[in-house]
Amino acid sequence: MRRLLIITAFGAIATLAGGLWVTRPLTVDADTVSAIEGNAAAGEMVFALGSCASCHTSPDGDKAVLAGGREFTTDFGTFVAPNISPDMLNGIGNWSQVDFFNALRQGTSPDGKHYFPAFPYASYARMTDTDVANLWAYMATLPSSDQPSQSHRLTFPFNMRAGVGVWKALYFRTAFVQPAGDTERGRYLAEAIGHCAECHTPRTALGGLQNNRWMAGAPDPSGKGKTPGLSPAQLKWSADDIAYYLETGLTPDFDSAGGGMAAVIEGTSKLPPEDRAAIAAYIKALPATE
Ligand code: HEC
Ligand code: HEC
Repeated sequence: MRRLLIITAFGAIATLAGGLWVTRPLTVDADTVSAIEGNAAAGEMVFALGSCASCHTSPDGDKAVLAGGREFTTDFGTFVAPNISPDMLNGIGNWSQVDFFNALRQGTSPDGKHYFPAFPYASYARMTDTDVANLWAYMATLPSSDQPSQSHRLTFPFNMRAGVGVWKALYFRTAFVQPAGDTERGRYLAEAIGHCAECHTPRTALGGLQNNRWMAGAPDPSGKGKTPGLSPAQLKWSADDIAYYLETGLTPDFDSAGGGMAAVIEGTSKLPPEDRAAIAAYIKALPATE
């Protein structure tokens, strides 16, 4: 019943939103963004910590090729990650740097439509200009795949991209959630590139993060299993334990990280030690949540 009400309300709002100016897809300032010169070598770290490959490589193909095809089952239907390799026809090789900024910063496609937040742009939107440009330069060096992107299989009304405008109006905020404290770098790595909260924070029925329960743990979006809470009462590890886990994937009890966390650790293991320490300090400074 609750689900039915949500669907009805969302459908009505989505239909209205189609014609509403407040929920229109926004774009970045093209002149500013096109002038930025990216550095591919520096972009490799952004790519690794962002774990772009964990969603965008093909489930049965080469782990270095962003051919797409991986499926994500959610309450709203099944999303299929697109091909984001540099292929001119089936990837994003014909995009400009401005198109790429619009995707990561605004969740807006080159043809002016909303992206679904299953693509965690709401976190990536906090990235600096330099990191976005470096990431774009790095991705251009990766191999191409001509595998066409597939359509998502979503239930009505969640298949309406206009409805994402409503989601953005409710939840899309690029301000950082936690205070910087002594851990400005850690906050940046965790809340922007590392998008930790996308898995570790519970969501509302419409798929927005519950900021008042930041990193308090959440059901896995696939419906199977749970992502642990990392707030002080929930995670008793020391900062060194956390940094060691982010480097090796080993817990203080020598269990190894599984689920979606394994791919995250592939990224954090490539960071300089001071960056892992900064993320650990950020985790230790999280507010208490129930
Ligand atoms: C949790 C899985 C996930 C992660 C992690 C992820 N993406 Fe995606 N991405 C998606 C999905 C799903 C879509 C499709 C969104 C849509 O159709 O609205 C998408 C769409 C895109 C698009 C638009 C492609 C097109 O054809 O229009 C780009 C560009 C992109 N992602 C880049 C990235 C980059 C760069 C990273 C890493 C910084 C990344 N993604 C990380 C799931 C993910
Ligand atoms: C794709 C989803 C996902 C993302 C993104 C993610 N995590 Fe996790 N995380 C998990 C899952 C699932 C587990 C449980 C792993 C297991 O059971 O082995 C976990 C476990 C952990 C743990 C161990 C907690 C415990 O009690 O065992 C820490 C610490 C952690 N994550 C920190 C982070 C940080 C820091 C980031 C961002 C840099 C992050 N995670 C991003 C899914 C994610």
